[in-house]
Amino acid sequence: MSGAASLEVTGLTAGYGATQIVEEASFAVAAGGRLAVLGRNGVGKTTLLAALMGLARRHEGQILLDGQDVAALSTPERARRGLGYVPQTRDVFRSLTVEENLVAGLKERPRSALVEAYAMFPRLGERRRQTASLLSGGEQQMLSTARTVLGRPRVLLLDEPLEGLAPVICDELMAALHRLTESGDMTIVLVEQQIERALDFAQDTVVMDRGRIVWSGPSPLLRSDQASIERHLGVGAFH
Ligand SMILES: Nc1ncnc2c1ncn2[C@@H]1O[C@H](COP(=O)(O)OP(=O)(O)O)[C@@H](O)[C@H]1O
Ligand SMILES: [Mg+2]
Repeated sequence: MSGAASLEVTGLTAGYGATQIVEEASFAVAAGGRLAVLGRNGVGKTTLLAALMGLARRHEGQILLDGQDVAALSTPERARRGLGYVPQTRDVFRSLTVEENLVAGLKERPRSALVEAYAMFPRLGERRRQTASLLSGGEQQMLSTARTVLGRPRVLLLDEPLEGLAPVICDELMAALHRLTESGDMTIVLVEQQIERALDFAQDTVVMDRGRIVWSGPSPLLRSDQASIERHLGVGAFH
């Protein structure tokens, strides 16, 4: 199976061991849709994505990928079903070159698809023979994102992919991800601290506060809701 899938999360409570971090989270993204997840530091955004991927412990709730509950499946099995995850920690194989990292992300796709990664991030093309451990933080971020995108996940979970990237590269990445959803290749859930960029990108947004979803709706509505922005994202979070 390929192409964008829908994601529907119902009553998801998750955490680490017995500790509950995310409580009763529910939201849905249509196939080919873009959802932003916003919230201050420490409210549980990373834990939410990790739980979707099977990397944090789920206590309750359903995770439907194209209508099929994947919540009881292992992380590799979720990946096989089409869930892709770019963690906040920049997941690269440090001893491999840039190109070897990208090849590892191809899955069954032909090597010729590597040009897509170099089109998305020309910088990676310039550094294709460089060992990943020698890349800057921003370049490792690009590599981590490009490797996962190359595998064409049906639903892509991105945890702060813009961190460390220059503004012009942020613009290009957002545009490339936008195209991948518009063409029906991917559905995207974006956790981001750059609130304006996230609201520009996503049709819908959920805002988390202390483990719970406290606001959800169309992104333009949040943009005009200054009170909710100040309350849940902080004064001056958005101009
Ligand atoms: N591996 C872990 N074990 C226990 N608690 C954790 C772990 N990772 C994060 N936490 C706690 O979970 C809460 C939410 O963290 P996180 O999901 O990283 O928030 P965010 O991504 O919104 O900044 C924090 O209180 C954090 O200390
Ligand atoms: Mg986080």
